[in-house]
Amino acid sequence: MNDVIRIGIVTAWPEDDWHSKRLVTAFARHGEAAVIDPAELSAIVSEQGVVSVRAAGLGSEAFDAFVLARGMGRTGDADVQFEIYRALEDSGAVVVNRIDPLLAAQDKFRSSWLLARAGVPTPPAAVAQTSAGAAEALAGLGEAVMKPIAGSLGEGVQRVRADAPGRASARERIARDGAVYLQSYVPHPGRDVRVFVVGGRGRAAMERYAPPGEWRTNVSTGARVEAVPLGAELAAVAEAAAEAIGLDYAGIDLAVGPEGPTVIEVNGNPSWQGILEATGLDMAEAIAEHVLGRALRRRGASDHIVPDWTTGATHG
Ligand SMILES: Nc1ncnc2c1ncn2[C@@H]1O[C@H](COP(=O)(O)OP(=O)(O)O)[C@@H](O)[C@H]1O
Ligand SMILES: [Mg+2]
Repeated sequence: MNDVIRIGIVTAWPEDDWHSKRLVTAFARHGEAAVIDPAELSAIVSEQGVVSVRAAGLGSEAFDAFVLARGMGRTGDADVQFEIYRALEDSGAVVVNRIDPLLAAQDKFRSSWLLARAGVPTPPAAVAQTSAGAAEALAGLGEAVMKPIAGSLGEGVQRVRADAPGRASARERIARDGAVYLQSYVPHPGRDVRVFVVGGRGRAAMERYAPPGEWRTNVSTGARVEAVPLGAELAAVAEAAAEAIGLDYAGIDLAVGPEGPTVIEVNGNPSWQGILEATGLDMAEAIAEHVLGRALRRRGASDHIVPDWTTGATHG
């Protein structure tokens, strides 16, 4: 291995994805950044229990770290890709974000119970697969927000009450999706806060204001963003949320209710265009600095040089 730090940016959209391009640029300032298409990964398991990972078109030089910018490929087999990331992590490779936390953040039910278990403030929530289960959950939650379990961009996010129309909406959702996720509604004046956490530290915060006639504050639904100072309480809750899910970097959505900040949602593949626009801070730089720090510490810690992408052979 030479002295240049080599980072693999794993992305299915190297040309079109703004975030992937920002990361490549940020990493290229400090070392070598190679783009890896998740659908071109392959792995070989040897009799000695060594798993070696390869990508079509790339040499076999070692990587110091992998960044899953858009690590879930649009082609190939998603489960194979996830398992390759697990094998890489298991060998001690630096992989950011790790795949299981990414999948946890994608699953709103899993996020809810992981947050609650860790003592992070988050609204009561429920999942149900039957009308009776949904009715019981609604009765317990009162005014609630119904969401797709693995949704984003505010799509399919709908307010419901524990009344006949609310129960009917939940029934329709179950008929369509097989299950429904419900979260207690946190009263907010059409705005919430997005905190960007990198390496365990809140780095930037912005308020998102829903446009007139809209209660959801997603930038994709037309929300306006504005920088806000990141107070100690907000930072602490956001940092605890990222840690509970296990994410190296995350976008944490918080509503600030009467009892202080509460975590509405954790994004493991967060956009940072809004944060950049509002604060002028480039999260790609923060992510690069964090990943390079981890990669350098790993180099320092191991006297063993990883010969290639081989995993399982790093115990020197
Ligand atoms: N429990 C809730 N209480 C109040 N508003 C909510 C709640 N859940 C979601 N919202 C609003 O809906 C938006 C989208 O919901 P969110 O859970 O972030 O899903 P998505 O993954 O689609 O962004 C949030 O940004 C927030 O404005
Ligand atoms: Mg959201």
